[in-house]
Amino acid sequence: MNITIIGSGYVGLVTGVCLAHIGHDVICVDNDLQKIKSLRQGKVPIYEPGLEPLMKKYIKSKKLTFRASIKDGIKDAIAIFIAVGTPSKKNGDADLTYVENVAREIALNMDDYKLVIEKSTVPADTGKKVERTIKMNLKNKNLKFDVASNPEFLREGSAVEDFMNPDRVVIGVESKKAEELLREIYKPLKPKFVVTNINSAELIKHASNSFLATKISFINAISQICNNLGADVLKVAEGMGYDKRIGRAFLNAGIGYGGSCFPKDVDAFITLSNRSGYDFKLLKEVREINEHQKKNFLRLIEDKLWILKDKTVAVWGLAFKSNTDDMRNAPSIDIIQALQAEGAKIKAFDPQAVHNAKKGFKDLTYCKDPYEAVKDSDCLLLLTEWDDFKGVDFEKVAKLMRQQIIFDGRNFYHDRDLQRLGFEYHGIGIGKT
Ligand code: UGA
Repeated sequence: MNITIIGSGYVGLVTGVCLAHIGHDVICVDNDLQKIKSLRQGKVPIYEPGLEPLMKKYIKSKKLTFRASIKDGIKDAIAIFIAVGTPSKKNGDADLTYVENVAREIALNMDDYKLVIEKSTVPADTGKKVERTIKMNLKNKNLKFDVASNPEFLREGSAVEDFMNPDRVVIGVESKKAEELLREIYKPLKPKFVVTNINSAELIKHASNSFLATKISFINAISQICNNLGADVLKVAEGMGYDKRIGRAFLNAGIGYGGSCFPKDVDAFITLSNRSGYDFKLLKEVREINEHQKKNFLRLIEDKLWILKDKTVAVWGLAFKSNTDDMRNAPSIDIIQALQAEGAKIKAFDPQAVHNAKKGFKDLTYCKDPYEAVKDSDCLLLLTEWDDFKGVDFEKVAKLMRQQIIFDGRNFYHDRDLQRLGFEYHGIGIGKT
């Protein structure tokens, strides 16, 4: 099928490449000419395991091409995915300016039937607004089109794998034709389809991300109680997780969720619910707990390290989670800024995120490896659970550090006997503080 994806950011690009991989002819559109030029050369602007080789393969076979204008991009397509950004406005609403612009452009440039599919995370009712915008801007009022919602559930760092093996594909449609086209697009994946109306599909996305954020905040709250009672949150999560109704996933206590999705989506869902007449107090608390988790971590550091002024703090991991170079809403940002405000000097290492970190943090010492970061430091913070940190030689680390104190924000080293090597080890709610 001829498919066009508008917006070649993280979601658009992964979707485009993967749709080409399952047999479609795909055009990815972006209005950033520089980006299009670089994509055409097979350069992926983000770190996403497995994406670049696939992209290069389909550029070569011409199943994947790039265009800088919607007009050129949509001519032959029957299905058009909108995958542009929906950043947060100051009041927590999603800013839908780009979605509206794209809907208008599609209407002005289409000359046969199109199925327009929202892929960006948007508040319920956006589908209706997209439909209205297209209708109002159509040059030829007799042209037929459908609007559908097809939310994505990809995780950064495992997006290609997630696309190829979806738990479900959600299709929000108002016509049989739209449903059939979407089923056809995903048919090679043989997925479990959930077919519903547009508003319900949009809500499934909000509810899923908010539920996962709730799970994380729930276990983070439990981690605080574990601290108070000398219990072990890892065992609590294990014991809960074997219950099939609960499941072990997303019960990892830590320094809180970050990234471009959960913080923004929880905000947007609170605002959306409020507007619909429901005060979603539970989600407000989820957000609160997430903020507190970083503050509690900082309090622990201050408690153990005492005066922070002129102390040297080594940081391993800056990205909001492992396997990505994404720094958006990374917990490391708030933690580092708070330590710097107290006068601490930061030496940091991250395997992939440094180029993005540099855009925000100027007064950091960026190190070439974990050992350089800990040299002459008064403590070490583990903030991102990169596999690269598994094989580190802690005897060497102990010798390099001025004070052998580790604050493990991800309980990454919970099963290592670091005390034996002379370390003071502090995890999150695991009774080792
Ligand atoms: C999330 C969802 O998992 C995807 O299904 C969704 O498609 C995506 O948002 C989106 O809306 O685009 P992502 O933000 O890439 O994906 O990352 P997650 O793996 O969900 O992690 C989010 C944050 O929660 C990270 O900061 C991670 O460290 C944290 N987390 C996750 C925990 O603190 N504990 C856990 O147990 C799991």
